[in-house]
Amino acid sequence: MRLTLIVTALLTLLSGGALHAGTVQSPDGRIVVTLDADGEGIPFYKVDRDGKPLIAKSNLGFNFTDDDPMRRNFEVVSQTTASRDTRWEQPWGERQFVADKHNELTVLFGEKDDAPRLLAVRLRVFDDGIGFRYEFPQQDHFVTARISEELTEFNIAEDGNAWWIQAGDWNRYEYLYTQTAVSAVSTAHTPITFRFADGTHMSLHEAALVDYSGMWLRRMQGTNFRAQLAPSPRGAKVVRDAPFHTPWRSIRVADGPAGLYESDLELNLNEPNALGDVSWFTPHKYIGIWWEMHLDQSSWASGEKHGATTENAIKHIDFAAEHGFRGVLIEGWNLGWDGNWFGNGREFNFTKAYPDFDIERVAQYAKSKGVRIIGHHETGGNIDVYEGQLRDAMALYERLGIDAVKSGYVADAGGIIAPDGNGGEMFVWHDGQEMARHHLKVVKEAAARKIAMNPHEPIKDTGLRRTYPNWVSREGARGAEYDAWAVPKNQPDHVPTMVWTRMLSGPMDYTSGVFSLEGRGAEGPDIPSTLARQLAFYVVIYSPIQMVADLPENLAKYPRALDFVKRVPADWSETKLLDGAIGEYAVLARKDRNSNNWYMGGVTDENARTVSIDLRFLESGQSYTATIWRDGESADGLGADRHAMKVETLSVSSAQTLDIDMARAGGFAVEIAAR
Ligand code: NOJ
Ligand code: CA
Repeated sequence: MRLTLIVTALLTLLSGGALHAGTVQSPDGRIVVTLDADGEGIPFYKVDRDGKPLIAKSNLGFNFTDDDPMRRNFEVVSQTTASRDTRWEQPWGERQFVADKHNELTVLFGEKDDAPRLLAVRLRVFDDGIGFRYEFPQQDHFVTARISEELTEFNIAEDGNAWWIQAGDWNRYEYLYTQTAVSAVSTAHTPITFRFADGTHMSLHEAALVDYSGMWLRRMQGTNFRAQLAPSPRGAKVVRDAPFHTPWRSIRVADGPAGLYESDLELNLNEPNALGDVSWFTPHKYIGIWWEMHLDQSSWASGEKHGATTENAIKHIDFAAEHGFRGVLIEGWNLGWDGNWFGNGREFNFTKAYPDFDIERVAQYAKSKGVRIIGHHETGGNIDVYEGQLRDAMALYERLGIDAVKSGYVADAGGIIAPDGNGGEMFVWHDGQEMARHHLKVVKEAAARKIAMNPHEPIKDTGLRRTYPNWVSREGARGAEYDAWAVPKNQPDHVPTMVWTRMLSGPMDYTSGVFSLEGRGAEGPDIPSTLARQLAFYVVIYSPIQMVADLPENLAKYPRALDFVKRVPADWSETKLLDGAIGEYAVLARKDRNSNNWYMGGVTDENARTVSIDLRFLESGQSYTATIWRDGESADGLGADRHAMKVETLSVSSAQTLDIDMARAGGFAVEIAAR
């Protein structure tokens, strides 16, 4: 590791006052960022790449509910630079080792005033993008920041294509993506992804969202965006005492789709592992008492249709044991589902099971079969009730040997019930400061008991899995549940869009593997997918926990498909995006963390297509056996025959190209086993 630190504060004294802040460039010299204060004293940054503007002059600053804005009248007080060239290891992930090579510039701005307030901006420039954050130092004239808005701009230098979902709407992050011109976006969640005329790909997001509100992006005019923090009922969107810093604002940039997907920018901007040895978490696949509720064949609530019975749990444990799936998720096991839980969660009890679910016996039976129950905490969006029971809830699971928990926050956006600090309730957003705090509270409580967390209806992923590697997955997008009951179901371009949007942020519990390809009958046509595409999801959509969602009887009906799902790993040493275009198709290859085998997955949109895959990523001189699960001749993900699938085996080497056809809404999966 090379670490250089040049403190230039001395220059301030020599120059007798304000400094002009500098520029800093990426290690490869292609990205150049300027950070300075303009003639009006407005702090700003701008980004050039290959000598061409990428982000034009963009202002920085804050408004407060109880203080003057920090917006103009600043000068540069001091600046420091540093650089780093290192790599670190992930306990689990898309790749084992992550390279962190960047140059850093920190500029301290101070007001030109008798009682100057101070604000620093720390900027890191990597070959694949930049990150910057604000730092509020301890100071005499500013104690508590009550932030009404962050004024960070992203003034994108040219128009292009954008893929995004709306922010500030009722359904949190669970939308189909919209593709528009950059100049036609309204208010978007991050990651938001852009492609420009010369093929440059860029995405805007954030890293290490800790004790702060999530950042939405509001287009002001043309292609200029400004941060809009998720609201809070307190008025101020963020309340923090100095010293503190904000999350990193991140800008990924790459020449094409592979570079954008393969970037580790946000992980690099997060703090290292704070938990130490986390080998107690095992990446795995799981089945569940789950899809049957979404099909309305059984219920979360008690009564005749109750899904989480002892008998049904035993049936699932037997299936998991027979097929080698580590986990069995059981939803609807605990008291509270009978009432109006959606959006209020007042009745949930996280330690008491329904009388027809013998939790002790089920846990004991699972243990005897070498299977783990996956716990479930649906909160109905009531964190007041959940936090009140959190310790006992986690203690119960720890005692029963349950080491992974799915949680849920089913409430409309803005409808999370949180304690108001005075014994009452307040209604907060899924991505406000209160929820950023809540999720980490749960993750830390779980980590203390060696339990992994997988929240649904979560706050977005900003790479905190690096610091808290028991935060293993989450939902945070439109998952496979929509194929059960939504109109429309997830469309063929949804997953090929998510690869370069939602999936840039981190692992997703999409809950793949619906082999029947049928949702609830009355809710419109069946799932637009071939059978082979369902298999592709296990490679294309990364998560260290992967659900095999369909009913056991449906899984058993398709033994060749089940065979792939049994074989595919959930933990990788390398990941490559081999081919694709946003919203059209994606082909990925990943290397098993525990063997020399590679796995590939491909998905296409509503167009059938053939991909030619160059296998040069394989080790040269090594021979491999490729087993390919592909769409059959008659397969059509939008037509009558969605199940036709061919399974072929052939010898391959790194010198070859593999041509694979995909049907409309189709896909493929490949295992490449080293011989
Ligand atoms: C929504 C989640 O996404 C889904 O997986 C779960 O089954 C329900 N909430 C009930 O908790
Ligand atoms: Ca959901």
